[in-house]
Amino acid sequence: MKNIKYLKPLSPLQKGDDNMGVLENKGAIEYSKGLEGVIAALSSISAIDGEQGKLIYRGIPIEMLAKHSTYEETAYFLLYGELPTKSALDEFVAEMKELRYLPKRVEECILELPPNPHPMDILKVAVAHAGLYDPDQLESCREGVMRKVIRIIAEIPTIIAYYHRARTKQEIVPPNPNLGHAANFLYMLHGKEPDPEEARIFDIAMILHAEHGLNASTFAAMVTASTLSDINSAIVSAIGTLKGPLHGGANERVLKMLDEIGTPDRVEEYVKNALMEKRRIMGFGHRVYKTYDPRARILKQYAEKLSDKYGDRKWISIGEKIEEMMIRELGKKGIFPNVDFYSGIVYSFLGIPRDLFTPVFAMARSVGWAAHVCEYTQNNRIFRPRGYYTGPDYVEYIPIEQRR
Ligand code: CMC
Repeated sequence: MKNIKYLKPLSPLQKGDDNMGVLENKGAIEYSKGLEGVIAALSSISAIDGEQGKLIYRGIPIEMLAKHSTYEETAYFLLYGELPTKSALDEFVAEMKELRYLPKRVEECILELPPNPHPMDILKVAVAHAGLYDPDQLESCREGVMRKVIRIIAEIPTIIAYYHRARTKQEIVPPNPNLGHAANFLYMLHGKEPDPEEARIFDIAMILHAEHGLNASTFAAMVTASTLSDINSAIVSAIGTLKGPLHGGANERVLKMLDEIGTPDRVEEYVKNALMEKRRIMGFGHRVYKTYDPRARILKQYAEKLSDKYGDRKWISIGEKIEEMMIRELGKKGIFPNVDFYSGIVYSFLGIPRDLFTPVFAMARSVGWAAHVCEYTQNNRIFRPRGYYTGPDYVEYIPIEQRR
């Protein structure tokens, strides 16, 4: 036993020792719960200033992209590292349109899937399934990998829309080559061309959700890809990770909470009780932002706009009241609205069912996932952190008949 050097604390961790322990044979060593503050990779894709509430994609502020860009252009920019020329963008858009169609077997399978599972689980299954029919499956050259990536990004909206149409017993609506990525999704979902203003709002929401550094789902994709597994497996890992309520699953729960509260005058009591019971208010707080999330600021404007357009201010007025109270109560702790707080109101006015909010997040974020996987694997090293062993050094094995 003498020569074995386990990475373990000298004495059991005490409360307050959460981020630091003295390790046998290693001296003082830091560990970071939830990897907070750990730099796990170099990246030139995006950066967040969590103190000032700023987000840039490859140097361009998110506000500028939301104002001037399209989802397709932003996707190209994130994936290839430069803004496309007019002809490069036309080519990219045409490629995305061509790749929107699902393999026949995948389409048939979606039509037969049960109507009850959460659509994030359907998305996981369908992306994995579609990978089996990917003609570029075995490609490892840059163009082949890019084509696989663009195919997944183009297929995800079709998977979500087809599944929704099938589970609600409506005819599926094939992609419309005259429409852009965001507008085409709304078209396939609703079976009619969307109002151009609403299609643009959805396009902006997609830009805002496209990328966000080494968040949990992107990191999950990178971990999978760092083993030199395939891109479909990496995206499936990311989808499973985004589903959780502490990550992408929060948007769906925000609307549930707004409905539960019902009217603005009930906000005070609801939030007070939730905080007293140590329950989280969904759509608030962030590991990196300690101020207002810039994406939430933009989405709030569109939530306002759509509320006025539809003459229905119920959700926005409850939302604003929650925001006011949360900032008053927890602002000093750095808790502010995040991207998920107002996105659900926007999506609801666009006619997107609640359980599709997180799949729609995945649809946008697929670009960020792919961009990070491509960037990281160009200079790859497998992710393999260490655990901090807190168990005993040696325990005698007791045969089962002697155990009590
Ligand atoms: N409501 C009430 N209190 C909160 C909230 C919240 N939404 N978020 C954090 N806190 C408190 C938390 O209780 C803790 O307090 P104390 O120090 O007294 O124990 C403190 O703030 C720090 O919280 P934490 O859990 O250590 O922070 P974290 O960086 O590990 O977690 C988070 C970040 C996003 C998971 C968390 O803020 C949260 O659970 N938010 C609600 C879920 C949500 O909106 N998720 C979407 C995140 S943004 C988009 C995305 O990633 O999809």
